[in-house]
Amino acid sequence: MKILGIDVGGSGIKGSVIETETGELTGERVRIAAPRPATPETVGVTIRALAEQHHWTGPIGIGFPAAIQHGVARTAANIDASFIGLPVGEYFSKQTGCPAYVANDADVAGLAEIRFGAGRGVAGVVLIVTIGTGLGTALFSDGHLLPNTELGHILLDNGQEAERYASEAVRDAQNLKWTDWGNRLNRYLLAMEKLFWPDLIILGGGASKKLSKFAEKISVQAPVAPAQFLNQAGMIGAALFAEERLRASIA
Ligand code: BGC
Repeated sequence: MKILGIDVGGSGIKGSVIETETGELTGERVRIAAPRPATPETVGVTIRALAEQHHWTGPIGIGFPAAIQHGVARTAANIDASFIGLPVGEYFSKQTGCPAYVANDADVAGLAEIRFGAGRGVAGVVLIVTIGTGLGTALFSDGHLLPNTELGHILLDNGQEAERYASEAVRDAQNLKWTDWGNRLNRYLLAMEKLFWPDLIILGGGASKKLSKFAEKISVQAPVAPAQFLNQAGMIGAALFAEERLRASIA
Protein backbone atom coordinates (compact mmCIF):
# COMPACT_ATOMS: atom_id res chain seq x y z
CA MET A 1 0.00 0.00 0.00
CA LYS A 2 1.30 3.50 -0.75
CA ILE A 3 0.98 6.06 2.04
CA LEU A 4 2.38 9.58 2.41
CA GLY A 5 4.68 9.43 5.45
CA ILE A 6 5.39 12.71 7.21
CA ASP A 7 7.86 13.43 9.99
CA VAL A 8 7.17 16.61 11.95
CA GLY A 9 10.47 17.74 13.47
CA GLY A 10 11.63 20.77 15.40
CA SER A 11 13.53 22.21 12.44
CA GLY A 12 11.88 20.65 9.39
CA ILE A 13 8.79 18.79 8.23
CA LYS A 14 9.62 16.00 5.77
CA GLY A 15 7.40 13.85 3.61
CA SER A 16 7.67 11.10 1.07
CA VAL A 17 5.35 8.49 -0.42
CA ILE A 18 6.25 5.14 1.14
CA GLU A 19 5.52 1.63 -0.11
CA THR A 20 4.55 -0.02 3.16
CA GLU A 21 5.24 -3.58 1.91
CA THR A 22 8.95 -2.80 1.73
CA GLY A 23 9.45 0.48 3.60
CA GLU A 24 10.88 2.06 0.46
CA LEU A 25 10.49 5.68 -0.56
CA THR A 26 8.71 5.59 -3.91
CA GLY A 27 9.02 9.26 -4.74
CA GLU A 28 11.07 12.27 -3.85
CA ARG A 29 11.56 13.40 -0.29
CA VAL A 30 10.29 16.94 0.30
CA ARG A 31 11.42 18.98 3.28
CA ILE A 32 9.85 22.26 4.38
CA ALA A 33 11.36 24.32 7.22
CA ALA A 34 9.27 24.04 10.38
CA PRO A 35 7.00 27.07 10.76
CA ARG A 36 7.59 29.41 13.70
CA PRO A 37 5.64 29.37 15.88
CA ALA A 38 4.66 25.73 15.22
CA THR A 39 0.96 26.06 16.01
CA PRO A 40 -1.75 23.61 14.86
CA GLU A 41 -2.69 26.09 12.13
CA THR A 42 0.84 26.65 10.75
CA VAL A 43 1.87 22.98 11.01
CA GLY A 44 -1.41 21.99 9.32
CA VAL A 45 -0.74 24.41 6.46
CA THR A 46 2.76 22.94 6.04
CA ILE A 47 1.42 19.37 5.99
CA ARG A 48 -1.16 20.39 3.40
CA ALA A 49 1.61 21.96 1.29
CA LEU A 50 3.59 18.70 1.48
CA ALA A 51 0.54 16.70 0.37
CA GLU A 52 -0.05 19.13 -2.51
CA GLN A 53 3.57 18.92 -3.63
CA HIS A 54 3.15 15.15 -3.82
CA HIS A 55 -0.26 15.54 -5.58
CA TRP A 56 -1.49 13.33 -2.74
CA THR A 57 -5.12 12.68 -1.82
CA GLY A 58 -4.75 9.30 -0.06
CA PRO A 59 -3.99 8.38 3.57
CA ILE A 60 -1.26 10.20 5.47
CA GLY A 61 0.79 8.93 8.42
CA ILE A 62 2.34 11.57 10.65
CA GLY A 63 5.10 11.18 13.23
CA PHE A 64 4.65 13.99 15.71
CA PRO A 65 6.98 15.21 18.53
CA ALA A 66 4.55 14.73 21.43
CA ALA A 67 2.91 11.99 23.46
CA ILE A 68 -0.13 11.02 21.38
CA GLN A 69 -2.78 9.15 23.33
CA HIS A 70 -5.46 7.71 21.02
CA GLY A 71 -4.92 10.54 18.54
CA VAL A 72 -4.81 13.34 21.14
CA ALA A 73 -1.60 15.31 21.83
CA ARG A 74 -0.73 15.29 25.53
CA THR A 75 2.62 17.12 25.67
CA ALA A 76 4.35 19.93 23.79
CA ALA A 77 8.07 20.14 24.60
CA ASN A 78 9.26 21.53 21.25
CA ILE A 79 6.00 22.62 19.64
CA ASP A 80 3.37 25.18 20.54
CA ALA A 81 1.51 24.49 23.80
CA SER A 82 -1.81 24.95 21.99
CA PHE A 83 -1.40 21.39 20.67
CA ILE A 84 -2.07 19.95 24.13
CA GLY A 85 -5.49 18.32 24.21
CA LEU A 86 -5.95 18.62 20.43
CA PRO A 87 -7.17 15.54 18.51
CA VAL A 88 -4.31 16.00 16.05
CA GLY A 89 -5.31 13.19 13.68
CA GLU A 90 -8.77 14.64 13.20
CA TYR A 91 -7.38 18.17 12.96
CA PHE A 92 -4.84 17.33 10.22
CA SER A 93 -7.46 15.24 8.37
CA LYS A 94 -9.66 18.33 8.16
CA GLN A 95 -6.75 20.58 7.20
CA THR A 96 -5.55 18.32 4.38
CA GLY A 97 -8.76 16.65 3.26
CA CYS A 98 -6.89 13.31 3.53
CA PRO A 99 -7.39 10.71 6.28
CA ALA A 100 -4.48 11.42 8.67
CA TYR A 101 -3.14 9.13 11.40
CA VAL A 102 -0.79 10.57 13.99
CA ALA A 103 1.58 8.91 16.49
CA ASN A 104 4.69 9.89 18.44
CA ASP A 105 7.68 10.51 16.14
CA ALA A 106 10.11 8.24 18.00
CA ASP A 107 7.53 5.45 18.23
CA VAL A 108 6.99 5.46 14.48
CA ALA A 109 10.75 5.66 13.76
CA GLY A 110 11.01 2.58 15.98
CA LEU A 111 8.28 0.80 13.99
CA ALA A 112 10.33 1.28 10.80
CA GLU A 113 13.52 -0.01 12.39
CA ILE A 114 11.81 -3.02 14.00
CA ARG A 115 9.94 -3.98 10.81
CA PHE A 116 12.64 -3.37 8.20
CA GLY A 117 15.77 -1.94 9.79
CA ALA A 118 18.36 -2.43 12.53
CA GLY A 119 15.85 -4.07 14.92
CA ARG A 120 14.43 -6.56 12.45
CA GLY A 121 14.10 -10.03 13.98
CA VAL A 122 15.73 -8.96 17.27
CA ALA A 123 14.19 -10.78 20.26
CA GLY A 124 13.92 -9.17 23.68
CA VAL A 125 13.99 -5.49 24.57
CA VAL A 126 14.98 -2.90 21.96
CA LEU A 127 15.31 0.77 22.81
CA ILE A 128 15.31 3.33 20.01
CA VAL A 129 16.60 6.81 20.85
CA THR A 130 16.03 9.53 18.26
CA ILE A 131 18.37 12.47 18.60
CA GLY A 132 17.25 15.81 17.23
CA THR A 133 15.72 18.98 18.67
CA GLY A 134 14.56 16.72 21.51
CA LEU A 135 15.44 13.21 22.61
CA GLY A 136 12.74 10.74 21.62
CA THR A 137 12.42 7.14 22.74
CA ALA A 138 10.59 4.02 21.63
CA LEU A 139 10.62 0.82 23.65
CA PHE A 140 9.85 -2.59 22.15
CA SER A 141 9.64 -6.02 23.72
CA ASP A 142 9.74 -8.90 21.22
CA GLY A 143 8.57 -6.49 18.53
CA HIS A 144 5.70 -5.02 20.59
CA LEU A 145 5.73 -1.29 21.24
CA LEU A 146 5.01 0.32 24.60
CA PRO A 147 3.90 3.73 23.24
CA ASN A 148 4.72 7.24 24.49
CA THR A 149 7.62 6.39 26.78
CA GLU A 150 8.94 10.02 26.70
CA LEU A 151 12.23 8.96 28.28
CA GLY A 152 14.06 11.99 26.93
CA HIS A 153 12.61 13.92 29.85
CA ILE A 154 14.12 11.91 32.70
CA LEU A 155 16.45 13.69 35.09
CA LEU A 156 20.02 12.47 34.95
CA ASP A 157 22.28 11.97 37.99
CA ASN A 158 23.59 15.52 37.47
CA GLY A 159 20.04 16.87 37.94
CA GLN A 160 19.65 17.84 34.27
CA GLU A 161 16.80 16.84 32.01
CA ALA A 162 18.26 14.42 29.46
CA GLU A 163 17.06 16.24 26.32
CA ARG A 164 18.45 19.54 27.59
CA TYR A 165 21.83 17.88 28.08
CA ALA A 166 22.36 15.39 25.26
CA SER A 167 20.16 16.32 22.28
CA GLU A 168 21.45 17.35 18.86
CA ALA A 169 20.10 20.86 19.49
CA VAL A 170 22.26 21.13 22.64
CA ARG A 171 25.35 19.83 20.78
CA ASP A 172 24.77 22.51 18.13
CA ALA A 173 23.96 25.34 20.51
CA GLN A 174 26.96 24.65 22.74
CA ASN A 175 29.19 23.76 19.81
CA LEU A 176 30.27 20.55 21.56
CA LYS A 177 32.92 18.29 20.06
CA TRP A 178 31.51 14.91 19.03
CA THR A 179 33.54 13.20 21.77
CA ASP A 180 32.33 15.61 24.49
CA TRP A 181 28.77 15.19 23.36
CA GLY A 182 29.38 11.43 23.14
CA ASN A 183 30.17 11.44 26.86
CA ARG A 184 26.85 13.15 27.51
CA LEU A 185 24.92 10.70 25.37
CA ASN A 186 26.70 7.86 27.16
CA ARG A 187 25.58 9.17 30.53
CA TYR A 188 22.02 9.06 29.22
CA LEU A 189 22.34 5.59 27.72
CA LEU A 190 23.84 4.25 30.96
CA ALA A 191 20.81 5.61 32.83
CA MET A 192 18.50 3.92 30.30
CA GLU A 193 20.40 0.66 30.61
CA LYS A 194 20.11 0.64 34.39
CA LEU A 195 16.32 0.95 34.08
CA PHE A 196 15.42 -1.17 31.04
CA TRP A 197 18.33 -3.52 30.25
CA PRO A 198 17.79 -3.40 26.49
CA ASP A 199 19.26 -6.14 24.30
CA LEU A 200 19.87 -3.58 21.58
CA ILE A 201 19.96 0.23 21.44
CA ILE A 202 19.28 1.89 18.08
CA LEU A 203 20.24 5.53 17.59
CA GLY A 204 18.20 7.57 15.12
CA GLY A 205 18.14 11.19 13.96
CA GLY A 206 20.97 13.21 12.45
CA ALA A 207 23.66 11.90 14.83
CA SER A 208 23.03 8.33 13.68
CA LYS A 209 25.14 9.13 10.60
CA LYS A 210 28.06 10.16 12.81
CA LEU A 211 28.25 7.21 15.20
CA SER A 212 31.92 6.59 14.31
CA LYS A 213 32.80 10.04 15.69
CA PHE A 214 31.60 9.28 19.21
CA ALA A 215 31.33 5.45 19.42
CA GLU A 216 34.52 5.26 21.56
CA LYS A 217 32.70 7.13 24.35
CA ILE A 218 29.78 4.73 24.56
CA SER A 219 30.23 2.16 27.34
CA VAL A 220 26.82 0.51 27.74
CA GLN A 221 26.89 -3.27 27.62
CA ALA A 222 24.09 -3.46 25.03
CA PRO A 223 25.13 -3.30 21.38
CA VAL A 224 24.47 0.16 19.91
CA ALA A 225 23.56 0.40 16.23
CA PRO A 226 22.69 3.36 14.01
CA ALA A 227 19.14 3.38 12.63
CA GLN A 228 19.34 1.67 9.24
CA PHE A 229 17.03 4.32 7.79
CA LEU A 230 18.98 7.08 9.54
CA ASN A 231 16.76 10.14 9.71
CA GLN A 232 14.23 8.73 7.22
CA ALA A 233 12.94 6.22 9.77
CA GLY A 234 10.28 8.70 10.98
CA MET A 235 8.64 9.12 7.55
CA ILE A 236 8.74 5.40 6.82
CA GLY A 237 7.37 4.44 10.23
CA ALA A 238 4.63 7.08 10.03
CA ALA A 239 3.36 5.37 6.87
CA LEU A 240 3.56 1.94 8.57
CA PHE A 241 1.55 3.26 11.51
CA ALA A 242 -1.14 4.69 9.21
CA GLU A 243 -1.34 1.38 7.38
CA GLU A 244 -1.84 -0.47 10.69
CA ARG A 245 -4.65 1.90 11.67
CA LEU A 246 -6.29 1.69 8.26
CA ARG A 247 -6.25 -2.10 8.31
CA ALA A 248 -7.64 -2.10 11.86
CA SER A 249 -10.50 0.19 10.80
CA ILE A 250 -11.35 -2.02 7.80
CA ALA A 251 -11.17 -5.30 9.80
C1 BGC B 1 8.99 15.03 22.98
C2 BGC B 1 8.76 13.63 22.45
C3 BGC B 1 9.45 13.45 21.11
C4 BGC B 1 10.92 13.86 21.21
C5 BGC B 1 11.61 13.79 19.86
C6 BGC B 1 10.48 15.32 23.00
O1 BGC B 1 10.68 16.63 23.43
O2 BGC B 1 8.47 15.16 24.29
O3 BGC B 1 7.39 13.39 22.32
O4 BGC B 1 9.36 12.10 20.72
O5 BGC B 1 11.03 15.16 21.70
O6 BGC B 1 11.03 14.63 18.95
